Amino acid sequence: MKKLWGGRFTKSAEEWVDEFGASISFDHQLVNEDIDGSIAHAEMLSKCGILTEAEGELIKKGLLNLKEKAGKSELPFSVKLEDIHLNLESLLTGEIGAAGGKLHTARSRNDQVATDMHLYLRTQTEAIIELIIEMQKELVEKAEAHVETIMPGYTHLQRAQPISFGHHLMAYFWMLERDKQRYEESLKRVNVSPLGAGALAGTTFPIDRHYSAELLGFDAIYENSLDAVSDRDFILEFLSTSSILMMHLSRLSEEIIFWASQEFKFIELDDAFSTGSSIMPQKKNPDMAELVRGKTGRVYGNLIGLLTVLKGLPLAYNKDMQEDKEGMFDTVTTVTGSLKIFAGMMKTLKVNTEVMEKAVKNDFSNATELADYLADKGLPFREAHEVVGKLVLACVEKGCFLADLPLEKFKEATELFEEDIYSALDPYTAVKRRNSAGGTGFEQVQKAIDKAKLLWK
Ligand code: ARG
Repeated sequence: MKKLWGGRFTKSAEEWVDEFGASISFDHQLVNEDIDGSIAHAEMLSKCGILTEAEGELIKKGLLNLKEKAGKSELPFSVKLEDIHLNLESLLTGEIGAAGGKLHTARSRNDQVATDMHLYLRTQTEAIIELIIEMQKELVEKAEAHVETIMPGYTHLQRAQPISFGHHLMAYFWMLERDKQRYEESLKRVNVSPLGAGALAGTTFPIDRHYSAELLGFDAIYENSLDAVSDRDFILEFLSTSSILMMHLSRLSEEIIFWASQEFKFIELDDAFSTGSSIMPQKKNPDMAELVRGKTGRVYGNLIGLLTVLKGLPLAYNKDMQEDKEGMFDTVTTVTGSLKIFAGMMKTLKVNTEVMEKAVKNDFSNATELADYLADKGLPFREAHEVVGKLVLACVEKGCFLADLPLEKFKEATELFEEDIYSALDPYTAVKRRNSAGGTGFEQVQKAIDKAKLLWK
C-alpha cells in the first residue's frame, strides 16, 4: 500500500517496522474526535475560501458517512496506514474521491492529533466529574444514615477517640470534592484549540483558527503554534489529578478491606461486590476494593511514564509523543471503572452498627474525655493528661476499662472527679460533645451533610 506521505521515498519499510511505528491499534479510539476535528477544519477552509463551498460540503458529507460507519464498527482500519488520521483520510478519499485529499490543506497531523486529544479529554473529564458526583451522593446518603453511629477513630491505626461513622465517610466526600474541583479546573486548559498550528509554524493559508475553535466548542486557541503541537501538560494534569483521586479511592479501599475482615467485622460487603475462594468455601473476599487499590499503581505508572517521555523533548513534535495515548486511555478506563464500582459498593454495603459501638465501648478511646473533664475544672491539661494516664495504667493492670472503676478510685487520683464523670465517659456523649466546627459532633456532621447536598442542587 502506498504511503500517504510516500512521495519522497523509493523503498518501503518492512511490515514489522510499520507495525512498530503504527498507533492505529489504540488511537482508533479517537475516531469520533478525529472526524469532528476534520469537519470543523473543512468548514473553516470553505468559509475562508480555501476550499470551494461544494468541496467543503462533499468532504463533510463523506466524513459524516464515515462517522456513521464507525458507530457500527464498520471501518476497516489498516496498520499500513499507521494511525487514525491517515486511515480516515484514505477512507474519505475512498468515499468521495480526489476531493478527500484536499482536507489536509493548512493542517498537519501534529495539530490534528493534539486537537483530537483535547476533544477526547474534554468529554472524558466531564464524564468522570459526573461519576464523582454519583459516588459523592452515595457517600452522603450512607453518612446521613449513620450520623449517630459511633465507632473508634484511629491514629497510627490505634484507637484514638470515638467518632461518628458518618463523619468518617464524609471525610472521603471532601476528598472527592477536591478531586472534582481539580478536574473542573483542568478543563480550562483542556478546552483550548491547537487546530491551525500546522506542523509547528502555522500556515501560509488565510485560515481562521478562532472559527474552527468555536465550531468545536473550544474557549480559546493556543497562542503559540510550537506550544500548540508540543504541549501535553493537559494530559499530565489529567493523569496527576487521576493519581490523586485513585490514591483517595485506594485509602478507602484499604479501610473497607479491613473493616470487612473477621477481626473488625464493622461492615459486610454485598455479595455483588465480593467473590468467593476456589478452595476455601467460607471465604468472601473484598476483591473489588483490592482491585481498586491495586489499579492505583497503573495510574501512577501512567503519570510517571508520560512525564518521562516528555522530559528532554526538544520542540516541536517528536514521534515519542505518540506514547502519550495508551496511558491516557488506560487511566480513563481505570478511573471510570473504579468510580462506578465504588458507587455501587457504597450503596450496598451493610454497616454493623452494634459491632462498631461495642468496639468503642471496650477500649480507652474515652481517655481524652477524662482529661478534658479535669481541664474543664481548672486543672492544667498537661497535669490532667498525667492523672488519666495513671488511671489507664491501673485499668490495664486490673484488666478493666475506665468506666468500670468505682468513684473512690477516681477520687483517689484527684478530688476534682465527681459522679458525672460516668456520663462524660460515655462514648456517645463524647462524640456528641465534639461540636467544634468540622468536628465529629452529630450536629456538625449533619451540618456538613446539608452543606454537601447544596453542591449539586
Ligand atoms: N500518530 C501520531 C501521534 O500519535 C500522529 C502525529 C504524527 N505526526 C508526525 N509528524 N509523524 O503522535
